[in-house]
Amino acid sequence: MDLVIKDGIVVTAAEIIEADVGIEGGKIVALAKGLKAPEVIEARGCYIFPGFIDVHVHLQMPVGDFISTDDFYTGTVAAACGGTTTIIDFAEAHNEEDLLQAVAKRRQEADGKVVVDYSLHLTGNRDDGKFLDEMGELAAEGYTSLKIYTTYPGLMVNDGQIIRLLEVCRRHGLLPIIHTENHYIIEHLKARFLAEGKVHPRYHPLSRPPIAEAEAAQRVLALAYVAGASIYIVHLTCVETLEAVRAARRRGQVVYAEVTPQHLLLSIEDYNRPGFEGAKFVLSPPLRDKSNHPLLWQALELGELQTVATDHCPWNMKGQKERGLHDFTLIPNGAPGVETRIPLLFTYGVRAGRLSLTRFVDVCATTPAKLFGLYPRKGTVAVGSDADILVFDPDKEVSLSYKALHQNVDYCPYEGWKVKGYPRLVISRGEIIVEEGEFKGRKGRGKFLPRKRFNHPSP
Ligand code: URP
Ligand code: ZN
Ligand code: ZN
Repeated sequence: MDLVIKDGIVVTAAEIIEADVGIEGGKIVALAKGLKAPEVIEARGCYIFPGFIDVHVHLQMPVGDFISTDDFYTGTVAAACGGTTTIIDFAEAHNEEDLLQAVAKRRQEADGKVVVDYSLHLTGNRDDGKFLDEMGELAAEGYTSLKIYTTYPGLMVNDGQIIRLLEVCRRHGLLPIIHTENHYIIEHLKARFLAEGKVHPRYHPLSRPPIAEAEAAQRVLALAYVAGASIYIVHLTCVETLEAVRAARRRGQVVYAEVTPQHLLLSIEDYNRPGFEGAKFVLSPPLRDKSNHPLLWQALELGELQTVATDHCPWNMKGQKERGLHDFTLIPNGAPGVETRIPLLFTYGVRAGRLSLTRFVDVCATTPAKLFGLYPRKGTVAVGSDADILVFDPDKEVSLSYKALHQNVDYCPYEGWKVKGYPRLVISRGEIIVEEGEFKGRKGRGKFLPRKRFNHPSP
């Protein structure tokens, strides 16, 4: 054994035990009391969590003239400092590119920069024969999930295309992950508000109401029923969509749903901050009425929602968000969050009594690993798993500020919020990459992770 983490409290999705963790060759090789090794980390009073997994991030994502501000280096350093040791980003075929080229290009952008392990979702913005064949080829290489959008020109597909994509996902073992918002409702309301001179960011959420999200969810769930595919709904925000998921489950469908920290903690009131500050919260689907919060937390604890991911998609206020100063529809959509997810969820979930400790690990590590074909290599603390581990100090207090965070963006949506509970050490494949908030790893040390296929149960 090379390294032992001593006297911590090991938390998995299943149990909480006092044990030392023995590490060798980047893997966990022992879980027992009284382990010995040349290098010892004393972890008394700390939780030992599996390295957390964020299955929804957009690093250096091109949107029109802009590229999201965190690249694969800064974004993964931020992830690591916040306790996330695996991310899943996206590959999108733009213009004349085919899917194989898009994936190769994205790999080139990421390899050599990433500091934690990563994978990529494919994006289903076409359904021609070549595209569908390439989905099959790529699934065999470990790209086993497909993002489908029901809005955003260039990315969105129609209902017929969705059914075909879902059928191919089912055939080749990809998990379809869906952004559900009705494009036509949004376009109609945006045009109406602009015509009435309503240009402030507060009109962003009003142009994308819960009914637009729930309608698209309900429709995609019907399409999935026909295709016989299981689906995963990304960033579910409101009770209306939760009801659509419940109805699909009642008729026997297998549906998973993700929630984000911003939809659990921030609300529509944030768009009314002074001046143009509401632009910080222009993300889609938008922040909702506070009445959704207790329902989403409860659904998360009870297992109706399966994962918490961030949808990290940072844009600077200066030079990017401010483009929409006189027209909210020009504000690039998205907000940062990859670094703050774990401290926020621990503080406002676990400490606040909304989420049990084991459930916290489950929704932020274990279930993401299972659904996205990474388990048991990732997502748990067990003999044989990668030694991706957090030594987490439950009493460390931090006041969140964009200046101290590693995210490459000029604001933090939670500026000034207090968190209690922060990673003391972050270990990736046996290597300490973060110590007391300082990144110690090497650029490019992260590895691409081919993932197992998703098993769609028979309808
Ligand atoms: O506003 C957001 N969420 N931007 C990123 C792309 C997406 O919708 O997931
Ligand atoms: Zn989305
Ligand atoms: Zn997203």
